Amino acid sequence: MNRPNRPPRRLCLLLALLLGILPGCGRSAAPSRSADGIRVGVALYQQNDTFIATIVSSLEAAAREREADEGLKITLNITDGRGSQATQNEQIDRFLSTGYDVICVNLVDRTAAAVIVDKAKSAGIPLIFFNREPVREDIMRWDKVYYVGAEAGKSGVMQGELVAEAYRADPEALDRSGDGVLQYVMLEGEPGHQDSLLRTEYSIKAVTSANVTTEKLANDTANWNRGQAASRMSQWIDQFGGRIEVVFANNDDMALGALDACHAAGVEPLPFVVGIDATPPACESMRAGELRGSVYNDSPGQAKAILDLSVALAKGRSPSEAVSFKEEKYIWLPYHKVTPETLDEVVPPAE
Ligand code: BGC
Repeated sequence: MNRPNRPPRRLCLLLALLLGILPGCGRSAAPSRSADGIRVGVALYQQNDTFIATIVSSLEAAAREREADEGLKITLNITDGRGSQATQNEQIDRFLSTGYDVICVNLVDRTAAAVIVDKAKSAGIPLIFFNREPVREDIMRWDKVYYVGAEAGKSGVMQGELVAEAYRADPEALDRSGDGVLQYVMLEGEPGHQDSLLRTEYSIKAVTSANVTTEKLANDTANWNRGQAASRMSQWIDQFGGRIEVVFANNDDMALGALDACHAAGVEPLPFVVGIDATPPACESMRAGELRGSVYNDSPGQAKAILDLSVALAKGRSPSEAVSFKEEKYIWLPYHKVTPETLDEVVPPAE
């Protein structure tokens, strides 16, 4: 219908957008962005993952500290994707439509990033991926997309070095059959996760490049999970008995699962079991002399980087003044080797 006395509808829309008053459109319409506080949405792939739980508690501690130091209100809304990308997408959609300042995503499926980046870009809300790394093309899709993590290959190398160093120090303790070869099994994380692929490959490469000969008895995925690792390991104990000299596990939870299976089957002496993360239960096991080594995956460092970057982005400050980047996109926290002897010096007490 023609309404001659009113300005054209398109002009109204444009004016409203310019003045930032149009409900339901674009960023300006996002509900209640608080003037002095910031709201950060954190979408986890699985909250009951031991390592992810350590990132969350460090993130909460870092936020409280920052609030106290700066008098800045920081609201962290943490959601659990429970291993479903569809569930996580809904959670992210809710953050996008309710005006969060920054969204931090621990993807369920590393290949699902592009759609999330495109939605965040059209809402103008920066994204920080962490721990589960999207492919580079997805990170490069928009300039306000970042990644916080640790270089997986390096943790594999360190884990291999831990085994090679222990072997060099006392060959008979590891090579119990005395055949000059280390018979091992490999417990792998989720298939397709960058850490599973690279840790599996680089740990063995590091052992062989230290001139230690290895023989793989078996490998399988246990999806980062202690229970699944225990059941794989008990099958291998039935199959190989005392021939298993070393257990490489892509993370500590699976290393602890392997030890659970050894205890259940009464395996004595224990094989040389190594993990990655240096989580609190793994440190306890190292103190008890069971887990023989791990690689510290710096969750407080990663949490602090996520928080510092979130605050900078939410406040419109320069991200490179808050964190140090590689290629203005990636923030890498270093890994550190941990043995029972170096544990107290390398791993800070849990939050
Ligand atoms: C950790 C694992 C964790 C996984 C989850 C890895 O970096 O080492 O413990 O289960 O991330 O994505």
